[in-house]
Amino acid sequence: MVETIGMTAQAPFALELEWTVAAGDQPCIYRFTLHNRGTEPLANFSLAWSGPGRIDPKSAIENAVLLRRVSNFTEVMPPQGFVLEPNTSWTFTIRGTSYPLRHWTDAARSAYVTNAAGKHVSVDVGICRSTGATDDTPKLDIEAIGDLSDLSDGIAVVPRPGTVHVNGARNAASSLSLRAKSPVALKAATHFETLVTQLFPDESLIGDGIDINFAHRDGAQESYTIAFGDQVTLSASSESGYLYGLVTLGQILRAARQAPEHCRFPTEGYIHDTPHHTWRGAHLDVARQYYTMDELRRFTAILAWNKLNRFHLHLTEDEAWRYEVEAYPDLARVGAFRGAGLALPPLLGSGAASYGGFYAKADLRALVALAENYNIVVVPEVDVPGHSYAAIMALPFLRDPGENAEYQSIQGFPNNCLNAGVPKTLQFVETIFAELMEIFPGPWIHVGADEVPEDAWHASPLARQHLPNAGETIAQPLQADFLRHLHRQIQAAGRTTGAWEEGAHGGGVTPEKSYLVAWRSTAVGAELAAQGYDVVMSPGQAYYLDMALSPDWWEPGASWAGTSSLENTYRFDPYHGFAPEHRARMIGVQACIWSEPMSDRRVFQRLVFPRLSAIAETGWTPPSAKSWKHFAASSRFMPSLYGDLCA
Ligand code: ACM
Repeated sequence: MVETIGMTAQAPFALELEWTVAAGDQPCIYRFTLHNRGTEPLANFSLAWSGPGRIDPKSAIENAVLLRRVSNFTEVMPPQGFVLEPNTSWTFTIRGTSYPLRHWTDAARSAYVTNAAGKHVSVDVGICRSTGATDDTPKLDIEAIGDLSDLSDGIAVVPRPGTVHVNGARNAASSLSLRAKSPVALKAATHFETLVTQLFPDESLIGDGIDINFAHRDGAQESYTIAFGDQVTLSASSESGYLYGLVTLGQILRAARQAPEHCRFPTEGYIHDTPHHTWRGAHLDVARQYYTMDELRRFTAILAWNKLNRFHLHLTEDEAWRYEVEAYPDLARVGAFRGAGLALPPLLGSGAASYGGFYAKADLRALVALAENYNIVVVPEVDVPGHSYAAIMALPFLRDPGENAEYQSIQGFPNNCLNAGVPKTLQFVETIFAELMEIFPGPWIHVGADEVPEDAWHASPLARQHLPNAGETIAQPLQADFLRHLHRQIQAAGRTTGAWEEGAHGGGVTPEKSYLVAWRSTAVGAELAAQGYDVVMSPGQAYYLDMALSPDWWEPGASWAGTSSLENTYRFDPYHGFAPEHRARMIGVQACIWSEPMSDRRVFQRLVFPRLSAIAETGWTPPSAKSWKHFAASSRFMPSLYGDLCA
């Protein structure tokens, strides 16, 4: 029997998948078996699938013929004349993938048959098994870890406050009664009310009960002090300080209600709290998978509950373009959807039917406003010049018509980079970034700049004409030229350019008015800091939340950057390798949620929560106040996107 996830109706066809790990001189084998569960024979058909693992262009296919491959979309047909009779099956094997499958979510996640009449018929896709895996159950749930008795002070707050000196316990059945009077405190109280209504609509956290008074106190932005007594006094110098103090009180109250034997709402003492880093980020890739505005709003609220203050919104990719651009309506109309027969094929688990969506400007402006109320700046990213397959498919004028050879991105997309030598490219880029900056008023605009293939544009006459002295490998100088242009535009608009670490290559994005996100290793971050860049640390091996929790086949997620348990992510030291004199260049840390494996939202749950909170704690809590045991016990109270973690 073929087991499926999230499928109810039985499709006429079922696909069984098996991965055989390479052993000795035996290469890995990816085996597909298509079962005909219907009553009709199937002749003259093809089978297409998508999912993170890619078939290598050089792979050997037995008992099938390759028809088309674009990144992880693959279409094959059986040998000439083959008929798949009812209650029979067709098996074919592939030796050679772009990387070995390491987890069940690396395999095909959707498939369809195209019959002789050209009709697409859906296929139930089984969970891929691996001959190397012992157990046989995909891991999907979030497991509460840690021991509540480790909460020595009875205060389950994440991120952990810097200083906690408290005593006593109140009746936690009570609610917070917010006595805000000053305009700043009133604003914070209003936004906190919106936040708890969004996250915990049934919990009545605000109401009659414990009086919370607000007082002004000079001090750093985002810092706050809470004094516990008959009444509670929350002091801060800013709206964000008040908001974060309220978040702390809300967390204390929730934990005291849910685990009164271990957690308390104190009657004496104080909490003093101030963030360690100014940049406490979370990145979300909304291109590989589409997230609704509701999901984005809830995600924003979750960031606030973690005292994260930067939402890096990754809006464009090879796989999709996700925001409305008035000057180029086709970007969203064409580039936001994947499906059989569309400009973009099904990818990463989307099927034959059109899949996707884009965000209207008004929706994005509303998201920015919501985030601002929660002390979060939305940092938009349009990833250029690489990762632009969707844009180029939507707007073919972005191609050099004379480019007569192919280069492939690391993810297997052909000729996916915007070409600065094409006359209309720079005007196009100026326009899309001008519109982007109208929507996103914040200080930072992220331009991507990652993973341009080393041989990009090598066969483009227009690229050669643009940079006649570039030499054999034109990719880096042309990318740097492109980025210098864009960096100037962003600076002229009074903003700061963000880029992935490759932005520095060839002197594209210079250190003035910029920051770079180091993603390959702490060594890269340390080196960029030494070169004078402001650096946000997001090393893939610990902070990429699409990486699996362990090497186990049944863990969802990827492993190309490594695997990271919650504890490993928590304990990871982003300063590792930084010279003392360069530490101040690290402006903060960031979780990156790449969406390749997230076609099932339960996968998202398991991968993101509570590792997101572990990174939030590293961003906020001074290293000396961090405690793994305390965090492990407290993290169960944190909200998640698709259901609470609470034990
Ligand atoms: C990246 O992971 N390509 C930034």
